[in-house]
Amino acid sequence: MSPIAFARGIPSPDILPIAELADCAKYVIENDGTTVLNYGHAFGYPPLREWLAEQHGVTPDRVALTLGALGGFNVLARELFRGDVPSREAVVEAPTYDRTILALRGVGAELSAVAVSEEGLDLDGLERALSVDPAPRLLYVIPTFQNPSGRTLSEDERRAVVELAQARGVTVFEDDPYRLVRYEGDDVPTLFELAGGDGVIFASSFSKSAAPGLRVGYLIVPDDVVAPLQDALATMYISPPMLPQAAIYELMRRGLFEPARERTRAELKARRDAMFEALERAMPDGTRWSRPQGGYFLWLDLPSGVKVRPLLERAKEEDVTFVSGTDFFIDGSGDEALRLAFSYPSVAEIHEGIDRLGRLVGEAQSS
Ligand SMILES: Cc1ncc(COP(=O)(O)O)c(C=O)c1O
Repeated sequence: MSPIAFARGIPSPDILPIAELADCAKYVIENDGTTVLNYGHAFGYPPLREWLAEQHGVTPDRVALTLGALGGFNVLARELFRGDVPSREAVVEAPTYDRTILALRGVGAELSAVAVSEEGLDLDGLERALSVDPAPRLLYVIPTFQNPSGRTLSEDERRAVVELAQARGVTVFEDDPYRLVRYEGDDVPTLFELAGGDGVIFASSFSKSAAPGLRVGYLIVPDDVVAPLQDALATMYISPPMLPQAAIYELMRRGLFEPARERTRAELKARRDAMFEALERAMPDGTRWSRPQGGYFLWLDLPSGVKVRPLLERAKEEDVTFVSGTDFFIDGSGDEALRLAFSYPSVAEIHEGIDRLGRLVGEAQSS
């Protein structure tokens, strides 16, 4: 049996714009090698920062290009929780991105969580979580095609999040790497836009829309964070690698970024559609799953009583992998749920893998 991976949120190799990036990378070394092969600004390659600043309606000095969005988040989190801060509390969604949980714990944050499901975000719970005294230091939200659940906050929910956070003076970190891979439906304004930039740090990345191995993510930070963040980044690595940043910029300058993104979206949609079809066919009654209009993931609630850990053990024996729902909660909830990534396997593998998984869920249900 060939292994089928629904565990890792990585793109299928055939999605990557390899030839285009090879040509762009060669071009930028030959034509701007004195810049991209030298040390540079702690916030990275200026032309790409300027382009992003224009996209987001901010000045370029507020745009920090980082080692992926995750690299940016880690450095910023360390700054936010450094020293004697009034609150060490960070509020996250339940479920949320597992690496964020680890990063926040790593900087000594104390976590609380607010439920988010297909029915939406628990706004009463959010209000309660933000009403504590002192107010939490940070609210971390993944509003679009969330990792792990695939769900997207509506515009009304986003407005409510912004209002509640602003009323309590809580800094919001909006982690939005998947918004560029929407393949149906309309864009929803970002929290950053709805807040007029006030109190929201926005993060995104070219990992999902171009190539994750480039490690080009970015943050839009408030004016008062610019200097400390620059110092922290310069201390850590002087300046980030500018070659991949310049290659992305060149991809855009040549008008090749949008066609590459279009191809990525089409490939992801085909995989998501295949997963929906396979789940309908193969999953026993009582199984439910989210219906994302973009991104890499969907969330699957197992029939009542079917536990994810023994299922994962059985799945490994059958050479199919996924991530246990428990990894995405701060308190070990999610033991009857799992995350499926459809970004990596082929359409044929998705059908085969979901058939295997459906059989295992059925066995667990009747045992
Ligand atoms: C919500 C979320 N944030 C950040 C990242 C990391 O992105 P990057 O590759 O830009 O570091 C991921 C990657 O899976 C993610 O799902």
